[in-house]
Amino acid sequence: MKATAIAPSNIAFIKYWGKTDEALRLPANGSISMNLSELQTTTTVKFNKDLDEDTVFIDGQKTEGLKKNRVTQHLDRIRKMAKINLGAKIVSKNNFPMGGGLSSSASAFAALTLAGATAAGLDLTEKELSILARQASGSACRSVPDGFVEWLGGKTNEDSYAVSLYLPDYWEICDVVVIVNTSEKSVTTTEAQKSALSSPFFRERLGKINDKISLLKKYLGEKDFPKFGELVETEALEMHAIIMTSKPSYLYWLPETLRLMILTRQWRKDGLAVYFTLNTGHDLHLLCLQKEVEKVVRLLKATGEVKNVIINRPSVGVRLVEGHLL
Ligand code: DP6
Repeated sequence: MKATAIAPSNIAFIKYWGKTDEALRLPANGSISMNLSELQTTTTVKFNKDLDEDTVFIDGQKTEGLKKNRVTQHLDRIRKMAKINLGAKIVSKNNFPMGGGLSSSASAFAALTLAGATAAGLDLTEKELSILARQASGSACRSVPDGFVEWLGGKTNEDSYAVSLYLPDYWEICDVVVIVNTSEKSVTTTEAQKSALSSPFFRERLGKINDKISLLKKYLGEKDFPKFGELVETEALEMHAIIMTSKPSYLYWLPETLRLMILTRQWRKDGLAVYFTLNTGHDLHLLCLQKEVEKVVRLLKATGEVKNVIINRPSVGVRLVEGHLL
C-alpha cells in the first residue's frame, strides 16, 4: 500500500481569494492558473498496519504541529473514502523553498491526494482527485489537471473542481519566479483569507469577477499577450488591495518586491513585454513569452535584488511516478 506522486505548483492569473465555506474550501469565485514545470512536490505515502499514527517528513525534517495535522486531516478524508483505518508514513520533498509565496500548498496537497488515494487502493477520476485536493488546499485542485486550468468556483462540494482549458504546449509563456528573500511569510494564506470579506473592496471585486474571468479566457484564446499580461498584473494588485484593506490587514511585500514591480513597468515602457503577478508572499512571478526570457533574466540579475530565479514553462498536472521516497 505505497504510492508516489509528483505535482506542480501553479500560478493563478485570476486569483482565488475568499471562501464561502471554510471547511469545504469552496471559493468565493472561480480562478484560472497555469501549472509550473520547475516548482514541484514529490510525495510518497505508505499505509502500514503496524502504524496507529501518521508520521510526516517534509524536506528531510520530521514535521509536527499544525503542518502535520493538515496532512493527517487530509489522509483521514482518504481513509474514510477507502474505508481503511491504517496509519501512514508520508515523505515529501519540494524542489523549491516553502512559504515564500510560491504556493507550496498547491503542489504539496495535489501530490498528497494522488499518492494517498492510490496507496489506499482508490482509483479516482481527475474530477474526483481535484475535488478531494481542494478540501486540503483550494489552489491544490488546480494542480491536478494539465496545463492552463480553470477552477469552476462551484457552490457545492461536487461542483467545485478544476478542468484543463489548454494543454501545456498551447502557449509558450514563461513564469520567471524571482526569489527575493528565502524567509517564510509570517501569516499563512488560509489565515489571511479569513479576513477577505471584511475589505470594503471585496463585494466590488465579486460583482465584476465573472466578466474578468471571461475577458482573461478571451485573451488566452486569442493569445493576446499584452492584454493578457495587463489583466493578470492588475488582478494581482486587486487581490493585494483587498489583503491590505481587510481587518486585520496584511502586508506581504518587502521593499525588494516593490522595487522589482516598479522596474518591471520600466522595462515595459522600454519595449519589453513582461508583467508581474504574486501570491501571498514577497517573491514575484514575472510573465513573458519564451523568446524574451533570456533578456528578462539578464535584467533581473543585473538589479542585485534577486536571490534566485526559476524559469517555469507550462506543465502537466499531478501524476504517479515510480521513484518512491521510502
Ligand atoms: C494567493 O490555496 O493556499 O495563492 O485553501 O486556505 O489552502 P487554502 O488557500 P490557498 O490560497 C491560494 C491563494 C493565492 C491565489 C491563488 O493561488 O489563486
